[in-house]
Amino acid sequence: MPTSAKKRYLVTAALPYANGPLHIGHLAGAYLPADVYVRYQRLMGREILFVCGSDEHGAAITMRARKEGVSPREIVDKYHVLIRDTFQKLGVAFDIYHRTSEPLHHQTSQDIFRKLLEKGQFEERETEQYYDEAAGQFLADRYILGTCPVCGNADAYGDQCEKCGTSLSPDQLLQPRSALSGATPVKRPTTHWYFKLNEHEAWLREWINTGRLEGKQLHDPATWKAHVVGQCNSWLEQGLQPRAMTRDLDWGVDVPPEIPHSEGKKLYVWLDAPIGYISATKQWAADHRDNWERFWKSDETALIHFIGKDNIVFHCLIFPAILGAHGEFILPVNVPANQFLNLEGAKLSTSRNWAVWVHEYLEELPGREDDLRYNLIKNMPEQRDSEFTWKGLQETTNTELVGNLGGFIQRVFVLVHKNYGGLVPQANPEQTFRSGWNAEQETTIDRELFALAKKLEAMGAEVERFQFRDALRVLMEISSAGNALLQFNEPWKATLERTEEVRAVLFTAIQYAVALSAAMRPFLPFAAERLRTQLNLPPFEDSGELVALINDLLEGNAVLWPNHPINLPEHLFARLPDEVIEAQIQKLRTAQPPAQTDPPAPSPAAEYPPVKETISYEVFAQLDLRVATIVGAEKIEKADKLLRLTVDLGFETRTIVAGIAQHYPPEAVVGRQVVVVANLAPRKMRGIESQGMVLMAEDAQGRLSFVRPDEGWPVGFGVR
Ligand code: 2FM
Ligand code: ZN
Repeated sequence: MPTSAKKRYLVTAALPYANGPLHIGHLAGAYLPADVYVRYQRLMGREILFVCGSDEHGAAITMRARKEGVSPREIVDKYHVLIRDTFQKLGVAFDIYHRTSEPLHHQTSQDIFRKLLEKGQFEERETEQYYDEAAGQFLADRYILGTCPVCGNADAYGDQCEKCGTSLSPDQLLQPRSALSGATPVKRPTTHWYFKLNEHEAWLREWINTGRLEGKQLHDPATWKAHVVGQCNSWLEQGLQPRAMTRDLDWGVDVPPEIPHSEGKKLYVWLDAPIGYISATKQWAADHRDNWERFWKSDETALIHFIGKDNIVFHCLIFPAILGAHGEFILPVNVPANQFLNLEGAKLSTSRNWAVWVHEYLEELPGREDDLRYNLIKNMPEQRDSEFTWKGLQETTNTELVGNLGGFIQRVFVLVHKNYGGLVPQANPEQTFRSGWNAEQETTIDRELFALAKKLEAMGAEVERFQFRDALRVLMEISSAGNALLQFNEPWKATLERTEEVRAVLFTAIQYAVALSAAMRPFLPFAAERLRTQLNLPPFEDSGELVALINDLLEGNAVLWPNHPINLPEHLFARLPDEVIEAQIQKLRTAQPPAQTDPPAPSPAAEYPPVKETISYEVFAQLDLRVATIVGAEKIEKADKLLRLTVDLGFETRTIVAGIAQHYPPEAVVGRQVVVVANLAPRKMRGIESQGMVLMAEDAQGRLSFVRPDEGWPVGFGVR
């Protein structure tokens, strides 16, 4: 059954950990795509429930609490409120924003655990696990650190190396140490419940790749993103293993107390978190005297999980396996995961404060919620990682929102007020004028409205395909066509002989404005509401307004009638001035930028440059290479390839001119550790004396990457 044929939708967005504020990467990854999708479906009159909430368990929370010297409860209470309010201020329109620390969630999770146990889905295993004798605690997942056996990163976690992305188990770490005390842990026996994930491998493989399960077609695999299916298959190829679903922790959902050996054991956070979607639905249903089961236990529901790519395995394999093993729940029809958003040339990093925090953005750039939504949707990492830059935000705001969309609305309103005293004009349906879609083509009102309806349908089709960037592009094409309609017909030249023509053009243009007010709402809900007020139309109720409008337009019917009074023109958007952008770039400079985004591996066909002539060791030894830190960076006037770097070598500070400006913005290099040729003869470049050279790696495409030592390496010492 295609998704659109389902009776109702249940949309979930990944439950954010309540251990810190939201940043723009979170928005672009899961919440904005989900919000656009849900808002669109509501405007199409579909029944849709949008659930989310705070993920309040797991090491993410307890480690933060330790760091801040407060209890986990204080952490989740603080961040739950901050995150919930941030979403609300940004217009992310959940039906419910729940929390996993609620008793209802604990009960729901425990019930599911009991059911799985009853159905023989767990194996109780005693294993030896790392224990910190100083802290008196077992060390699960993130509580254990060590050297990654794959890439040598000294700070890999017990469940994953964040440097190379490899999934690990604590036993694979070399030189393990406790994240709590730094002590070398000892092994102690402990008992846990392992979910027999391996027993679900065969049907998961079939379901992911064909959409079929037990002879039923549950989804169309062609609608799933290739990177999502690819990641699942790479897990499946390695073979699924039983997975521990409990932990020795003192914060989380208790293993049901009646179960023998349950004392001191909590559910694994990745078991309870996705169950949070079910508890949120239950709470919503209780609040609305509805039945939650019709969402979770009916084939007529399309369940869609919006997530970031780091959550794929949990939502596409582990949680579906849990749902399938339980036996009463539906499976998702799609998991349109996004990739990652980078910031100004580097990976977002919360620990290094290399981020744009959404609550700060909302405070510092008030009234600019839609500017951010627009830019993040336009640059959404749908198929591959993408990037946010402050200059980019300024560009999309000033050119596309203020210039294109705002400009069109402003012109229409001014002309309707000037020519007709603010009343929608009467127009002759036979009157011809130039089409906004094609300057060469003569058109009439009904034909123009039909074309508009088709465009709205095309926008919707992109939303249905989870192609939000394309959907936004189509929205802007409507606005461009509106502008072209004015440009081609010049209604400001309202001579007596052109009266009828100008009436028809402006009548059509105002219909565009109404259509835009509805079509904008999924993307730009605040501006859409402002436009609605300007049009003197009631606020949206999110109950099928867009579908009704499309149906009217398809028939050539108007959507705003002659003599309807519209309000005075007001600017829909405001220009983003240079100083606001500069201040934000400056603010980012105070952060420690993380490593540059990883360049993709070179294609096998890459041509390698020939190896240079052999030199003796003595010649090599003449090079004095030193580890240094870049402490300052700025662009050089009229030299678009060069950056002037200030480099700290420990024993002295030097100026180095580096040809890296097209690869790194200045703010992305300050704080980096680099390797410098310290005994290179000084050289003047653009009038500046460059006192050395920074080593860079260069690939076949001429891209550059810093050569750098392990993080935190002392500066001033040699490299051999
Ligand atoms: O990655 C995260 O931020 C997790 N808190 C997402 C959980 S999604 C779901 F399972 F609840
Ligand atoms: Zn690694």
